[in-house]
Amino acid sequence: MDKITGLKRSCYCGDLRIDNVGEEVTLMGWVQKKRNLGGLIFVDLRDRGGISQIVFDTEVSEEAFKKAENLGSEYVVAIKGIVKERQSKNENMLTGDVEVFVNELRILNESQTPPIYIRDNDDASEALRMKYRFLDLRKPSMQKNLMLRHKVTNITRNYLSDNGFCEIETPFLIKPTPEGARDYLVPSRVNQGRFYALPQSPQLFKQMLMVSGMDRYFQIVKCFRDEDLRADRQPEFTQIDLEMSFVEEDDVINMLEGYLKVLFKEIKGIDIELPLLRLKYDEAMDRFGSDKPDMRFGLEFVNITDVVKNVGFKVFSSCSEKGKSVRGINAKGGAKSFSRKAISHLEDHAKTYKAKGLAWMKIENGEVNSPIAKFFSKEELDNIVDAMNGQEGDLLLFVADKDKVVYDALGQVRLMVGEKMGLIDDKEYKLLWVTEFPMFEYDEENERYQAMHHPFTSPVDRDSDRLDTQDKESLRAKAYDIVINGYEVGGGSIRISDPEIQSKMFDSLGFSKEEADMKFGFLINAFKYGTPPHGGLALGLDRLIMLLANTDNIRDVIAFPKNQNAVCPMTEAPSVPDKAQLEELGIEVIEKKD
Ligand code: AMO
Ligand code: AMP
Repeated sequence: MDKITGLKRSCYCGDLRIDNVGEEVTLMGWVQKKRNLGGLIFVDLRDRGGISQIVFDTEVSEEAFKKAENLGSEYVVAIKGIVKERQSKNENMLTGDVEVFVNELRILNESQTPPIYIRDNDDASEALRMKYRFLDLRKPSMQKNLMLRHKVTNITRNYLSDNGFCEIETPFLIKPTPEGARDYLVPSRVNQGRFYALPQSPQLFKQMLMVSGMDRYFQIVKCFRDEDLRADRQPEFTQIDLEMSFVEEDDVINMLEGYLKVLFKEIKGIDIELPLLRLKYDEAMDRFGSDKPDMRFGLEFVNITDVVKNVGFKVFSSCSEKGKSVRGINAKGGAKSFSRKAISHLEDHAKTYKAKGLAWMKIENGEVNSPIAKFFSKEELDNIVDAMNGQEGDLLLFVADKDKVVYDALGQVRLMVGEKMGLIDDKEYKLLWVTEFPMFEYDEENERYQAMHHPFTSPVDRDSDRLDTQDKESLRAKAYDIVINGYEVGGGSIRISDPEIQSKMFDSLGFSKEEADMKFGFLINAFKYGTPPHGGLALGLDRLIMLLANTDNIRDVIAFPKNQNAVCPMTEAPSVPDKAQLEELGIEVIEKKD
């Protein structure tokens, strides 16, 4: 192996352009590809900056040529050579106008044959890619994603610092925070039998910092949640977390809008129009069945509960009681493109979201074509078609059920239809705020109400005196989410700063005074000493980058992510600890019997 001694890289491989012709350059990188044409050897040399073609020519250096014959894929080399204009230019490469004729080659390291190809759009399984993550990260797209991430955090730090925010670190070994997911616990050796929790977010600490008078805080911070994983969720992920004192909802929202404007301009060159659209939660649910609607396309819900309350089709008419509904979407012009098979595929999808079925009507040849048409009179069908604004060639799809099921199932059908009909422009960004979330949601498993955001979220002014109402589901919060293309990218709220309202809130959640004290005593106590009105928000950095990078998998924008089973295939974490380590911690592992 050769040494690097005395060599200094003059530029990245990807930097070379026609202007560099005639210069002597020193490049260092990995062998992407080698072609031996007898008297000439061509090598694509790759580094973080891109790829350049380098040429070994016996007439330039016999010695370098001989050495180059031994090069294999992913060998690490340094070369010195002269940049020349290429005879046959490659328009697909940024450096395609030039090549470097090598007069010195040093082989800095060899490589075994890599188990995955180092190129984008490789078809290696994700499991293999994750096991060899260090190789996967050599791919240009992955390097681009990581550099994009760096650029975003830089812009974020600058924007927030310029707006008076101070970055403050908060602890990772903490008492549980009430964010709603399961905690990761860390045993304490010094205090045997006691456990820290890893923070699900810095929520309580950032509120304490407001009590401390820090006024504007932010942190780009890891959060940990032991929850079921999906394509947009990781057990450890990063938040851009912030909190502001002496503010109302609009102040937080305006601050974030200013940030998003700068971010989209700098990263994407897109001028987003401010102010962003705001939808109240109830309206978002009513129109799209989702609190994170993808607004890049229409297919809005139509509520036809009243139209069908007296029809013969019991599935529909039985939904006129409170809490149930019949809603439909009109897939304009979809009658032809959706075969029976395609519709039954949609129906299966609806059923995975607990719908009992997916009723459909095609408007063809001036008539309603539908397996359920026979249950309706002509007038009833006309009324439905009118309500749905149905026209020749349209496909109408309906779900009748409890509202929650209708929202979930038809909302998912809406997304699938939007995708299948090609209504989604994947270069477009549609941002909006969803506001006035419910204060409480019913937790079916534990048969009790829980805070939808967290227990420190302030009710809207009109509800602040009626927290004790029986109709808990009617209460609304000063909570807001920022939604981009159907993803919840961030969420926050104005916090309760009035101790009386806070104690009513704990009552409503069914916490006894002792319980509240045990869980959040330190915060309740701090709030007795002069708490400014405050509020904030946290953006999911990974989700934000995922959207900016135009991918739909959060793992593509995290250097070392976990797989769907919360395992890191590269390091094989989590692993079985040493017996001695467990003993020291006073922990015994009980094998599961079944
Ligand atoms: P929330 O729980 O809504 O709010 O989280 C804020 C944002 O974090 C992102 N996020 C995740 N990203 C990847 N993987 C996960 N498992 C994951 N969980 C959440 C989402 C989400 O919008 N403390 C409050 C904020 C506040 O009130 O200021 C909080 O954590 O993009
Ligand atoms: P059935 O009478 O159950 O065979 O249903 C007749 C049609 O109505 C089928 O196309 C079902 O998919 C549809 N359907 C059944 N239940 C519902 C429901 N709750 N909402 C919408 N469509 C339904």
